[in-house]
Amino acid sequence: MFDQLNALPADPLLGLISQFRDDPNPKKVDLGVGVYRDESGHTAIMSAVQKAAQQHLETEDSKTYIGPGGVPGFIQGVKSLVFGKDSSILKDERIAAIQTPGGCGALRVGAELIKRVKGELTVWVSDPTWANHIPLIKSAGLNIKTYPYFDHSTGAVNFTAMDEQLAQLGPTDIVLLHGCCHNPTGADLSFENWQQVASRAAQNGFIPFVDIAYQGLGDGLEEDVKGVRYLAEKVDEMIVATSCSKNFGLYRERTGSLLIQTKSKEQAQAIQTQIQDVARANYSMSPAYGGFLVDLVLSNDSLRTEWEAELNSMALRVKSLRAGLLKQIQLQGIEQDFSFITQQKGMFSYLGITKEQVQRLKSEYSIYMADSSRVNVAGLNTHCLEYVAQSLKAVL
Ligand SMILES: Cc1ncc(COP(=O)(O)O)c(C=O)c1O
Repeated sequence: MFDQLNALPADPLLGLISQFRDDPNPKKVDLGVGVYRDESGHTAIMSAVQKAAQQHLETEDSKTYIGPGGVPGFIQGVKSLVFGKDSSILKDERIAAIQTPGGCGALRVGAELIKRVKGELTVWVSDPTWANHIPLIKSAGLNIKTYPYFDHSTGAVNFTAMDEQLAQLGPTDIVLLHGCCHNPTGADLSFENWQQVASRAAQNGFIPFVDIAYQGLGDGLEEDVKGVRYLAEKVDEMIVATSCSKNFGLYRERTGSLLIQTKSKEQAQAIQTQIQDVARANYSMSPAYGGFLVDLVLSNDSLRTEWEAELNSMALRVKSLRAGLLKQIQLQGIEQDFSFITQQKGMFSYLGITKEQVQRLKSEYSIYMADSSRVNVAGLNTHCLEYVAQSLKAVL
C-alpha cells in the first residue's frame, strides 16, 4: 500500500536550517525561519513565562484532562487581548472560543467549521500570504482564491486593488486577513484600510477570518489590534485565530486559540459545541500546558508587566534593526529604494530581489533567506548589518 506514496520534496525553509547549520563561514546570517532571535541569535524563553512555568510546576497537582475548550483563564485572557477587556462583544458573550494547538490548530479548526456551513464557500487569502495558510485551509476541503495585496514596486499594500476585489465578494466568501505584521511581506493595512474593509464586510456580508500571530510585535499590544477591534464592532460575525508562539515565545508548546464572534449568546453556545466537536474529531483536546502559562502571565500583575516590557523590547529591537539595515544600505550607496524596510511592521520584510540574487547571497555570502526574498528581520544583529548591506550591494 505505502509503495504508492512517493517522498515529497523537502520544505524549502526547513532545508535552509540544515544548510545554515552546516555552513562553516563565521559571517553566516540566518534570515530564514520565522522565529524571534535576540542579539546573540538565541530564541530565549521570556522571563515572565519562565517564572510562570516555575509557579505552575510548584502548584500543579494533577495531569487529568482539562475541558474540551482548554484552560478557561487562558481563553478569558486571550479574548481580552484581542477584543479589549471592555468590549461589548465579550460582555454580550457573543464569542465561542477554544484553545488550540498553536495558531495552525486554530486556523485548521476554523477552516473545518467553515466547511460545516452549507453551500460553496470560498476563502480569500492575500497575494502573497503565509505559505502554510494554503495547505491548512485547502486540506479542510475549502476553495481558496487570492485577493491582490502587495505592491512589489512600493513595498506597501495595494489597497485600491484589494478593495476592488473585496467589493465583488458576498456572503459565501470568507476573507483571511493578517491582524498585524503581515507574513511574509511586513506590509500592514492602515487603520483607514481596516475601516474600509469593515464597511465592505458589513455591506456585502463576507466573513472576516483574522489570523493574528504577532500581536505586540508591531506597534504594541493595543495598537496592533486597533484595526481588528474596529472590524469586530462593525460586523456581526468574524473568526479569529491567535497564536502565542511568537509573543509568548511558546513555539513548541503549541498554544493558540480560535475565537468565533457570533450574532448572539445563543449562537455562541451552539458554535461552542461545533468547534469542540471539530477538535474532538481531530486531536480531541489541545495541549494545556502553554495555556496555563499564558493564564498565569496575564492574570498576575507583576508577571504581566514584565511580559509586556519584554515584548515591547523585542518589538523595539526589530524596529531598530530595520532602521539600522536601511542606514547601512544607504551608506553603501545602493540606489534602489529600500525605505519600505522601515515602514513595514513585525518580523518580516520582502527585500524585493530576484531568486538568483537570493541564491548568490546564500552561496557567496552565507546569508540565508527564503527564495521569495522574505527576510526575518529578527535574525539580524547590530554586528552583521554592514556585512548584509555590503553583500546586498554586491549582488544587486
Ligand atoms: C501568519 C501566521 N499565522 C499563524 C502562525 C501559526 O503559528 P503556530 O502554529 O506556531 O502558533 C504563524 C507562524 O509562523 C504565522 O506566521
